[in-house]
Amino acid sequence: MLVQAITDLPQDADADTVVIGVLEAEKIHHDVDGALNGLIEAGEAKAKHRHLAVTHAGGKRWILVGLGKRSELDGERIRIAAASALGRVRELGTKRLCWEVPHKVGDEIAAAIVEGTLLCDYRFDRYKGKGPTASDSESAEIEEEDEAERGQLQALIISAHDDLSAVVAEAAIVTRAVNNARDLQNSPPNEMAPRHLADAARALGELDHVSVEVDGRDGLRRRGMGSFAAVAQGSDEEPALITLRYEHPDASGPVLGLVGKAVTFDTGGISIKPANKMSDMKYDMSGGAAVLGAVEAIATLRLPVELIAVVGATENMPSGHAMRPGDIVRASNGVTIEVINTDAEGRMVLADCLSHAVGEGAERLVDIATLTGAVITALGHAHAGLIGDDDDWVAQVGAAGEATGEITWRLPLHRDYAKQIKSEVADIKNADESRKAGSITAAQFLARFTGDVPWVHLDIAGSAWGAGKPYTPKGGSGWGVRLFVELARSLSDGR
Ligand code: BES
Ligand code: MN
Ligand code: ZN
Repeated sequence: MLVQAITDLPQDADADTVVIGVLEAEKIHHDVDGALNGLIEAGEAKAKHRHLAVTHAGGKRWILVGLGKRSELDGERIRIAAASALGRVRELGTKRLCWEVPHKVGDEIAAAIVEGTLLCDYRFDRYKGKGPTASDSESAEIEEEDEAERGQLQALIISAHDDLSAVVAEAAIVTRAVNNARDLQNSPPNEMAPRHLADAARALGELDHVSVEVDGRDGLRRRGMGSFAAVAQGSDEEPALITLRYEHPDASGPVLGLVGKAVTFDTGGISIKPANKMSDMKYDMSGGAAVLGAVEAIATLRLPVELIAVVGATENMPSGHAMRPGDIVRASNGVTIEVINTDAEGRMVLADCLSHAVGEGAERLVDIATLTGAVITALGHAHAGLIGDDDDWVAQVGAAGEATGEITWRLPLHRDYAKQIKSEVADIKNADESRKAGSITAAQFLARFTGDVPWVHLDIAGSAWGAGKPYTPKGGSGWGVRLFVELARSLSDGR
């Protein structure tokens, strides 16, 4: 979908359909012969959030979407309203859509219209209806028609008074990066092995000021990353330690280190998972996808920051050469780990990746990972779990998520939980048999690998896919990309 800002009156826009928000106790500013305000007066159009009404006037179709009270208007409400409007727009076969930005609102509202529309427009249909046999079937033809119509849809973001072209272009850049992360997430695990993620990372090396380095099995050995290597040893797929650097010449503020878990398929290993829904474990690379999306957006926007991004990509497979429960391995910082459960593999990958990011000069750390089923038990799918060791950094990361609608909830990293990773035979163990406070236990483990650098851990097991937001209803959500962009912006402003 093409999206573009214009400064004009809605009735003069070159569009067949105009979407206008209805705010409580407010009139439509630019009415067409009283038709729009008439619709509100008749009670057909309402300010109730997401409510939709359609009418025709002045040779155009008008969709009035409820936005609630002006005092409660924020980006999240707008993204959801934009998704509702887009659903109707698609049903009606619109070719050129025009969204009027409400009067006297901040730039984040215009950005949210772009985000809600482009995120909701996303489809993962690359494997549908394109083969020689499939294209004979009726359903495939219908899907191809649908594809043709969507391909043509263009969106104009219109404001009578403000030039929103920069805001709209930036929001489109960020949203495309989110949708690219979703493509990585949704891809099947046979076509999104570590080497494919490494290819996606290498492609980012084309962007200005971005460099990319990829290490395989030998590199892990050479770097003494015995923890990451142990997870990878069960798979015939080569693992990838992906290190990206983005160094803007005018960078100010601390060096931001982003670390993503990218287990491209998590069977559990020898501690194998049950068959039911195991296919969902293709999403176990969502943290890595978010980090790659963030690098893409931050570099394309040319934000003046310095960034070190580390993605640990591997499969977790059972095999004759897989790690065993009972094995003891040594991470690159010298810490020895007793493997209690081979399904607690994410923390073993992150251990070496976090140490690596610290060694490469990160001055603030955030890791992002589909780390524990326990975070879904605790928080469901709305909030991601957040755990950190520095109150200021925790607040800054939390605020970035609040601003983008990627909401987080802090769990404690209290020393009383440290006993859950105490091992009889090694420095620490990778899991606690009690399974109590599983998300905090995992964070206790990670904390051994972050040195003195302020660190936040984001557990996105509940939010990375299937969280059912109206603008990301199915599959991967790209959770974290927009948060990281906002965080990088806040660092570059010196906030
Ligand atoms: N990738 C999983 C966590 C997960 C579970 C993500 C469900 C999304 C949905 C992780 O590697 C894992 O298996 N964690 C174990 C840890 C346990 C063995 C200590 C878990 O949560 O059960
Ligand atoms: Mn696992
Ligand atoms: Zn996992």
